[in-house]
Amino acid sequence: MDKRGQKLRQSVQMVLLRLQDNEAFQRVEIETPTEAQVFVLDPLNPRVLRSQQGKQLSPSDLPEYLAAVMARAERGSIRFVERGTLVTVTLLPNDVKLSLSTLDAVHQRPAESGTRQQFIRVEEALELLQALGIASPEGKVRADRRRKLYQVDRFVELVDQILEDWDEQRPLTILDCGCGKSYLAFVLNYWLKEKRRISCRVIGIDSNEEVIASSRSIQQRLNYRNMEFHKSSILEYRPVGPVDMVLSLHACDTATDEALALGIHLNCKYIISVPCCQAALRQRIDYTPWQAIARHPIFRNRLSDVLTDGLRAVALEARGYKVSVAEYVSPLDTPKNIMLRAVKTKAADATAHRDLQNLVEGTLPLESFLQSLDKSF
Ligand SMILES: C[S@@+](CC[C@H](N)C(=O)[O-])C[C@H]1O[C@@H](n2cnc3c(N)ncnc32)[C@H](O)[C@@H]1O
Repeated sequence: MDKRGQKLRQSVQMVLLRLQDNEAFQRVEIETPTEAQVFVLDPLNPRVLRSQQGKQLSPSDLPEYLAAVMARAERGSIRFVERGTLVTVTLLPNDVKLSLSTLDAVHQRPAESGTRQQFIRVEEALELLQALGIASPEGKVRADRRRKLYQVDRFVELVDQILEDWDEQRPLTILDCGCGKSYLAFVLNYWLKEKRRISCRVIGIDSNEEVIASSRSIQQRLNYRNMEFHKSSILEYRPVGPVDMVLSLHACDTATDEALALGIHLNCKYIISVPCCQAALRQRIDYTPWQAIARHPIFRNRLSDVLTDGLRAVALEARGYKVSVAEYVSPLDTPKNIMLRAVKTKAADATAHRDLQNLVEGTLPLESFLQSLDKSF
């Protein structure tokens, strides 16, 4: 048996021991060039692991399954969490690596490389990535930027999917709200303009003057004339011409609600948002019926996160958007990993929205932002 084969066997044995000995085991992520599967323990039946593709396994069959995946793949990775430790087995053509890191440390660090096929090819987008400071002058992705690139890459992939039905003859206008250093805006612009050959106008807005100045200087360096950057709060921004898509990636707290309200107000066809921190609703939800549960701060916080994003989705549906909710990257890459994707398609039904609003004190941030936008322009 060659060196890789021996290491494979050792790693499988190690995985096997860890899984057998692991009562808290919840999920395992497998990724190779030909398959990507996330197996999650069925909460109602802990004897069954289910993948998103509908495959079922018993936890005791998992090591054998992993061994088979590892034997037939040249590259890939297997990741799972075991008592607060992220265990990663990385498959390389001539080697197998096993790494352990505590989850807190993982959240400080870039995403493990090789866990998913990158949508944007680094070697093709090098000039852009170097201008953004994501890649070094030597052409390598900087370690401290890898995680962000991974998130932006996945975001662009999902925007690309949603645009499959875009067939207008005029340019597509995209507004990135709370663009920050504009990695998303630049990478998306690169993809649409240079790869998909879609005529587009990409606008970034942010209330921070410095990030707008640095985005403008990168834009000039790259000579992207179809891009604009404006220092503005989301609610104060007045676009010239129609906007087809509003984006927000980790716009802080109620800036997400501002972006959603602006997208609804502008009657955008697409609204895509990955919310960030969600303090606003925490104090306003009536937890009385759930007091026995909500008295635990962790449950209360998670409850309020889910309800905040849930109410946002329902608010979009009430305005005629078809909403899909996805974990756009693994929670191991960022705990703020929920993406709301809304496409204006159908007649509005506000019943659920009305009923749910009764459970919250006062007017929701998204609703008050929408009211003020509707009044002011
Ligand atoms: C966490 S950063 C995210 C930046 C970028 N979207 C990303 O993912 O890298 C949030 C950005 O939102 C901007 N921001 C927060 N509230 C805003 C508001 N009300 N209007 C405009 N920009 C806002 C901040 O200045 C900051 O640049």
